[in-house]
Amino acid sequence: MTITRPRTPLPPRTAPYEKGALVQACFHRVQAAIVNWSLMAWTKLARIAELPVGTVMEVERGDDLVAVCNVGGELRAMDGRCPHHGGPLGEGVLNGGQVTCPWHMWEFDSLTGECGFNPRVKVAVYPVRVEGADILVDLP
Ligand code: FES
Repeated sequence: MTITRPRTPLPPRTAPYEKGALVQACFHRVQAAIVNWSLMAWTKLARIAELPVGTVMEVERGDDLVAVCNVGGELRAMDGRCPHHGGPLGEGVLNGGQVTCPWHMWEFDSLTGECGFNPRVKVAVYPVRVEGADILVDLP
């Protein structure tokens, strides 16, 4: 006894590899990276004298808030809105490297932005540099 199976047609062949398409895809990725990089801007947010060691401050920038903190002399910056209910992280308390939101006490690592209660919850952190007496933050 012979079993015959219905023949299924082969899927259509994919388009042959095209070197030009690969080059174009690489070009677009490089172009997107350059655009992203150029959208970041070093912005003066405060003066060093305004931010003693062990403190966090809130800085308004348009509609956005940035929390800038001084962890043992290392300056750090993070998104100033708490992802829980929008509390002002810059008005919170700095304990070690942890910023505690003043509204419901969620804690965020000022280096990584991770929430201590739930590592899947994060706030954005931004690069910081000092120029003279000014604190500059690389904001998107
Ligand atoms: S708003 Fe920050 S913990 Fe609730």
